[in-house]
Amino acid sequence: MSVKIAPSILSADFARLGEEIRALDAAGADYIHIDVMDGHFVPNLTIGPGVVKALRSATTKPFDVHLMIEPVDGFIPAFVEAGSDIVTIHAEATRHLDRSLQLIKGLGVKAGVVLNPATPEGVLEYVLDKVDLILVMSVNPGFGGQSFIPSALDKIARIRRMVGERPIEIEVDGGVSAANAAALAAAGATVLVAGSAVFRTPDYRANIDLLR
Ligand code: DX5
Ligand code: ZN
Repeated sequence: MSVKIAPSILSADFARLGEEIRALDAAGADYIHIDVMDGHFVPNLTIGPGVVKALRSATTKPFDVHLMIEPVDGFIPAFVEAGSDIVTIHAEATRHLDRSLQLIKGLGVKAGVVLNPATPEGVLEYVLDKVDLILVMSVNPGFGGQSFIPSALDKIARIRRMVGERPIEIEVDGGVSAANAAALAAAGATVLVAGSAVFRTPDYRANIDLLR
């Protein structure tokens, strides 16, 4: 099966977000990746649950909501109610990762754990049975358009072995481009997040196809 592409709307035109999501849907995006930043866990501020809710009617594709919020638990219900299908939280942003994952699963959506570039994958070991997706950051979170950190490749391969036969998606986020997409998929990534690489020209379909 070919790799899934999750365009990040962080690189979209924020004045026309609804249209941009409809265009991504038409261009063959598998998930819509939504970056939520709190100005505290990461040095940038983006969107809240109200905007996610307003965008929900633009597509039926899954909303892959990447929460860069610390502490995160208090905001999880609002993002689920807004229409998130996958909620990913940073292992570094919750004191009780197991409890936060139970909270997400208990609300009936898919749960993911995100690892920053310097966070070891060992943190996943005891929560693998509660995880639908693992998101490996290949940049330090906060901004689009940064350079890919190569150590993510080995980390993905190690996580692939750790996951074994479990039906867990392995997603990678940051600096993904046509130049590294094949190596990432070969290492075991099943979902590629891409902001700049999808929005770099108006032909989103061509850019998505190039990544795939
Ligand atoms: C960074 C975000 C990414 C970002 C990726 O904190 O999590 O999703 O939008 O952008 P590119 O693909 O441009 O690195
Ligand atoms: Zn992201």
